[in-house]
Amino acid sequence: MSTELINKARQILQTNDLGGYTVPTQSMYPYQWNWDSVFVALGFATFDQNRAWLEIENLFESQWEDGFVPHIIFRKDEPSYFPGPNIWVAGDSLPTSGISNPPVASSIIKRIWDSCDHDENIDRLKSIFPKLVAWHRWFHTFRDPLNNGLVLTTHPWETGRDNSPEWTIPCEAIDISNVSPFTRLDTSHVDSSMRPTDEEYKAYITLVEFGRDHNWDHDHIAKHNPFRMLDVGMSMILLRANRDLLSLAEFLGEQDIVDELNQQIALSEKGIDYLWDDSSNTFCSYDLIAGKHSGFISSASFLAFYAGAGSDEQHQQLLENLKNIEQETDFLMPSFAPGQDGFDTMRYWRGPVWAVVNYMILNGLAESGYQDWADRIASDTKSLVELSGFHEAFSPYKGTGTGGDNFSWTAAIYLALSNLTNT
Ligand code: DGY
Repeated sequence: MSTELINKARQILQTNDLGGYTVPTQSMYPYQWNWDSVFVALGFATFDQNRAWLEIENLFESQWEDGFVPHIIFRKDEPSYFPGPNIWVAGDSLPTSGISNPPVASSIIKRIWDSCDHDENIDRLKSIFPKLVAWHRWFHTFRDPLNNGLVLTTHPWETGRDNSPEWTIPCEAIDISNVSPFTRLDTSHVDSSMRPTDEEYKAYITLVEFGRDHNWDHDHIAKHNPFRMLDVGMSMILLRANRDLLSLAEFLGEQDIVDELNQQIALSEKGIDYLWDDSSNTFCSYDLIAGKHSGFISSASFLAFYAGAGSDEQHQQLLENLKNIEQETDFLMPSFAPGQDGFDTMRYWRGPVWAVVNYMILNGLAESGYQDWADRIASDTKSLVELSGFHEAFSPYKGTGTGGDNFSWTAAIYLALSNLTNT
């Protein structure tokens, strides 16, 4: 790893730190984003443990009474971003969005906890622990319509994989004719060829307006929202997060919560098979409105290893898919497998490689005994940064940077991977 790039990565986190919370990148994303922030904490933990804890503590300041943790926290109004707090009209103690994000916090807290001084940080762990439990419970209460431990999502932005082709057909089915007029600002920061289309944006804003018009009543939204998918990414991430929270609960001697989490884990381990699509031989998302699988291989399919989910046979099939993707690309892991409808090398979540997803996939592969694949993905992730800098994402062919630059979570993952190399 290059010392120069490690210094640059730290500097990006420090520059994007607006005082206890870190923005993904300046101007384009000028607020605190949920899962971005959690990965940022992982980066800070490599050189400033206190700052790492603070990032997540500040994120949880936005937690609603019922345990929900929003995907954006609007601490001040920033005219460079749309849709801002006046469009969402949501929040409890702070103005926020009304949707959540992949629940990576318990897993990252566990990582940070494992490598920090326990005497110094035990009070912090004890204080964040019930908040993590409450967030997981929120998913199990409001977002498990089939009671099989899989996560229902009500907005593509919630999944973090905003414009994945998994959402194309379900979004096309949304009536966008009544959406209020709006002006996009994202395409004034980066080229429109790297961003979702205007039609997709209309669907996103229609969904925001649906939630807002129902006062962010998550019970109602979960039942009647015009976009209702069981998301493969969030389902895998929650299963993994439950396992990590379980190990923290065991450490803290919280027996009731240990029992509760064991039940949830068993439910999801069994339920995950619902997301296996025999016709495309992969785990993928499921459209509850249309009653069918997306049938697409995306980077989220490979989070099965990270979740510790799926049978040996399914794992072998996933490895076959991985080999095919490897033969067709220069850099792993494209967010969407080439050759499928909707693949695009540069457009956001339709093909580009994302360092954070690589981090989860490579950890899962290493833990499942596929160290060669894990090493390959780690090495590709570092090479992409060395080649193109700290971009939001990268083309899986030439490695060209796409989206915003000086991106916090890309810097954080570079630091996390450099830390692994050094230990
Ligand atoms: C955006 O504005 O593009 C974000 O991804 C929403 O979370």
